[in-house]
Formats: sequence, structure tokens, C-alpha cells
Amino acid sequence: MDSVATPPTAFDISGKTSDPNTGLRGNYAAMAADFTVQQHMSDYSDAGQARWLRLVERQLALIPGRACDEFLNAVLGNPALDMRHGIPNFADVNVALKAATNWQLVAVPGLLPDDVFFTHLANRRFPVTVWLREESEFDYIVEPDIFHDFFGHVPMLFTPIYADHLEAYGHGALKAKRLGGLDWLARLYWYTIEFGLIREHGKVLAYGAGVLSSPKELIYALESDIPARLPFDVMTSMRSAFLIDDVQTTYFVLDSLQQLRDDTAPDFTPLYEVLRAEMA
Ligand SMILES: [Fe+2]
Repeated sequence: MDSVATPPTAFDISGKTSDPNTGLRGNYAAMAADFTVQQHMSDYSDAGQARWLRLVERQLALIPGRACDEFLNAVLGNPALDMRHGIPNFADVNVALKAATNWQLVAVPGLLPDDVFFTHLANRRFPVTVWLREESEFDYIVEPDIFHDFFGHVPMLFTPIYADHLEAYGHGALKAKRLGGLDWLARLYWYTIEFGLIREHGKVLAYGAGVLSSPKELIYALESDIPARLPFDVMTSMRSAFLIDDVQTTYFVLDSLQQLRDDTAPDFTPLYEVLRAEMA
């Protein structure tokens, strides 16, 4: 397995840059202290809106029979998540999201410093990148854009147990940063929130945003004979480095979202001590 272990939210996974002040892709000039910006719907061009619709239609055609019930029910059954009418206005979605799980979307210019990202999660705010990928990036993009962030992440925020877990993860990540355990906890995020699989109705399905927003990885993760699909285990996932720029070699399969909540509820402090001792 490749040895890349950078937290998925950290600054340095961006390979392309456009902001002259931060060196990051995205416009960080007008952001607030918490890295949030205004989402201006007029900034999206007709070509961008058309690209969004093509991205959405392609992915909607793939998710039946591959996405978990919670994701499918949200995307197909919740009018607030009807993405076939154009790029979503976060303010509109927030009305329904607040009523469902008391989460809110916040618009951000792009990748965030890890402590900023985790502070948002701990306060039930999910950062969503405002910009959309270019046409040349239609099939593949390294940085999270609005399609990845919204299509992949937002539907699951409507499920209460998942929403509660993500807040707890934010608190846990801030604690991990203090304890020097963030690289390990970032792997947990990667193998669950981004690339997690779950068994429902006797079938392995996807709930991770990185899988659900990628046509290639959605099919590969569920249907290829190449990757390993292991029962979810906290310590095994934290011992496993991950790939940022290719499909994963290993996926972890939950028995239920309750398992994710329960298995990550204990104090991780002794787990970090075990992992640290293994590295000594
Ligand atoms: Fe993501």
C-alpha cells in the first residue's frame, strides 16, 4: 500500500493553485476568520451549470443498487436535495438540513487548515467548496470541488446517526491534534467518511463521499476483484495508509452506521499510545 498519510483536509494535498496569497486553488481573499465565504449564485456560468447537470446525471444513473439506503433516500426522496435543477443554493438546503439534523452547510474557498475544518465539524457545520471543476477535470479531480463536497457528503448529513458521528469526529480530531494523533485519525476519516462501505440487505454498498462522487471508484470499490474489503475495525483502519490520487487498495465495510457510532465512541487516547509504541 502506498505510504501517503496526509490528512484529507490539510493544505498540502492541493496540486494546483490559483490564489496568489495562499498558494491554494480557490479565492481566499474575501473569506471570514473561520474561512467561510459567501456563495454567490451569479458566479456560476451557464457552462458551469451545464457541467454540474452532466456530473449529477452521470452519478445519479450509477447510485441505485450501489449507494446505501440513507444516501439514496436523501438524494431521491428529499426535494431539498434535488440536484437536477442546477448548482444548489446552500441557503435553501440549510433550511431543510437544520430541520433534519441541525447541521448547516458553510461555503468555503477550498481546502482548509485541519483545525479550522474540524472546528466546523464539531459545531455541526459542513464546509462545502464553492467552485466547480473545469471541463478538463470532468472525469477526475484531486481537490474537493462543489460536486464532490455536495453530491458526496451532503446527503448523508440528513441521517441523524451519521450527523451525530460527524460532530463527534470533529471533537475527536481536535483532541487528536492536541495528542499528536491526527495522522491516525485522518485515516479513520478517509476509510469511513470518504471511502466507507456498508453492508445493507446482505449487500456491500457505498456511504463514503469519495466513492459516491466518483463514477470510476464507485464501480471499482464495489465490483472489482482487485481491492480488499475488510470488516471495519478502528485500529486496522488507523494502521492503514491511504492513496490520495488513485483508487484505494483497501476498503472497510461497516455492518451498520450504529457500528460506526459505537466503535468510535470510546476515548482514543490509549489507542494513540499503542500506535505510537508500534512506530517506536
Ligand atoms: Fe470529501
